[in-house]
Formats: sequence, structure tokens, C-alpha cells
Amino acid sequence: MESRNPEEIHASVLLDEAMEILVRDGGEIFVDATLGLGGHAEALLERLSNARLIGIDQDTEATEQARKRLERFGSRATIVHANFAEVKSVIAGEASEGVDGILADLGVSSLQFDTGSRGFSFREDAPLDMRMDAESDDPTAAELLATLNEEEIANVIYQFGEERFSRRIARRIVEKREAGTPITTTKQLAELVERSVKRSPKEKTHPATRTFQALRIAVNRELEVLETFITDAVDVLKIGGRLAIISFHSLEDRIVKHGFQKLSGKCTCPPRIPQCVCGAEKRVEILTKKPIVPGDDEMERNWRSRSAKLRAVRKLT
Ligand SMILES: C[S@@+](CC[C@H](N)C(=O)[O-])C[C@H]1O[C@@H](n2cnc3c(N)ncnc32)[C@H](O)[C@@H]1O
Ligand SMILES: [Zn+2]
Repeated sequence: MESRNPEEIHASVLLDEAMEILVRDGGEIFVDATLGLGGHAEALLERLSNARLIGIDQDTEATEQARKRLERFGSRATIVHANFAEVKSVIAGEASEGVDGILADLGVSSLQFDTGSRGFSFREDAPLDMRMDAESDDPTAAELLATLNEEEIANVIYQFGEERFSRRIARRIVEKREAGTPITTTKQLAELVERSVKRSPKEKTHPATRTFQALRIAVNRELEVLETFITDAVDVLKIGGRLAIISFHSLEDRIVKHGFQKLSGKCTCPPRIPQCVCGAEKRVEILTKKPIVPGDDEMERNWRSRSAKLRAVRKLT
């Protein structure tokens, strides 16, 4: 791997805005649930000179890099290789009294995206892997394309990529498989998608972007683990503790927004039901009526920040 400075590889998105929400006087213990290269974690440890931070990431390349970056904080930083869906058991082992703040900065890091061999990007030809936890036994993207049926593939591409041509793409993927030449690399998939979609002249992004996003979400079960994380994270907060989540696309943001609304007591039962059965209970106060988005200067400096949205809550009970 290249040994570029982590700050150059990955500029932390909405850094000051996230600190503004999380850093409080008297805060003792914090969780960065998506440590990545440790940018947000480092900023928290710098601003709270007595606090401890537990950093979680499911990618061992990220935990290794973050470990180096946070070394100077000694025992104030604890790094755990885990999925943030396991936040409850991680915290039970590290801070049974609960924590003062939790941050999640979702999605892939630039390190993952830019390391061609991980299979997240079609800029380089590589095996179609896309697992953030490359050590897990979970199926890779290529394995999903080899085992799901045509309708399941189309649904993944439609639901997680919002791709209009999902059916045609799925049909061609299955045709390749039936011909004994399955799709196994990033370039093969990008070219197949390019041949399958009608491109609007206004569109600036590569036509395979949506399909790649969809597969990545499916491989890492990103939306499922996010839902679990939101309720479990609130469980492990101390009263008054804060949870801040930065999302990067509308599917994620919708889950965060609805998850927070439900935890703030908003009933989500269908209108005709006489009694509430959704279990809505007011456990948090929403701190961001509207999501916080980056300013123009950040968007100019860092392309990755363009779609970022930050939402946060404070635990009441
Ligand atoms: C956008 S990066 C975080 C960057 C970090 N905030 C920084 O400032 O350097 C997202 C990181 O979250 C990790 N990640 C994504 N989903 C995860 C999950 N469910 N559990 C644990 N880590 C996850 C990824 O492996 C990636 O390293
Ligand atoms: Zn209800």
C-alpha cells in the first residue's frame, strides 16, 4: 500500500460540525463507530484532553492505519475490529457505564475506494470483491452475482442503486453466467452496465456508478446494519449523550431520519390503526431539524463531501 499521509488520502467530512455536536465539557468516553483513517477520532481526542475514545472499524487496513495515527494518545485510544452492528457488545466490554458520544461517518473510505484490488471502483480492473471486512467469510460481489437469481439481482440494483435499467443489467449478468463466462471483475461489470443502459447526455457520472453502489450496499448489508446500529447506539449512550451520523446517499439518510424520528417518539403506525403498535417511545431529542450539510468551501475542497448529511440526537431517558 502507498504510504501517503492519511489526511491527504481521506479528508474527514463535516469535521467541525461533528465536533460542535459531540464535544461537551465533562465528556469522558466516546465511540467512533467508523474509525476509517482516524481523522474524526484524532480531532475528538485533541479537543477533549482527558477523554477516552473507542474506535471501531470492520476493515483491518483501516484499524491498522488508525492505530498508527492515534498512537500518540496512548491508552486514551482503544481500537476494535468489529462491525458497528455489534456496538452493544463492544461497549459492554469497554465501557459498561455507557458513553457520552458516538459518531458514525458511513460508507467507504477513500483508502478503500482508491485501493483498486478491493474491487470498490471500476477505475482499475480487479476481482469484484467489495467486502469492507476482507477477512470475513461473507460472499463477495462476484459471489452474489454468481448465486442470486435474475430477479434478486435486478432488485438489488433497483433498490440500492435506484437504477432504471436494473432488469436489463440483471438479464445480461445472468446470460454471461449461463454462457460459462460469469462476471468476476470490476471492468467486466462496468462494461456490461455501460452496454446495458441508455445514457442521458446530462449525466456526468459513469453509468456503472449506481450498480456499483448497489452491490456494495448488498455485499456489506449496509442498510440492515445501520438500522440495528441506530437503536443499539442510543441504548449504550449515557443520559444526555449524543449520537451523530453522517450519511452519503438518500437511502442511508432516510434510514437515519426515520430511525431518529421513531426514537423521538413519532408514531409510524398506518393512519387507520386505533392504537399505536409501532412501539414509538420518546427516548431522544432531535438536535438537527434539518440535516447539516457542508459549506461551499468544503464541497470544493473535497468531492466526497458533496452528498454528506449530518443528523444528531441527544438521549433523554
Ligand atoms: C467514511 S470512512 C470513515 C472516515 C473517518 N471518519 C476519518 O475521518 O478518517 C468509513 C469507514 O467506516 C467503516 N465502516 C463502514 N461500515 C461499517 C460497519 N458496519 N461497521 C464497522 N465499520 C464500518 C469502513 O470500513 C470505513 O473505514
Ligand atoms: Zn405507532
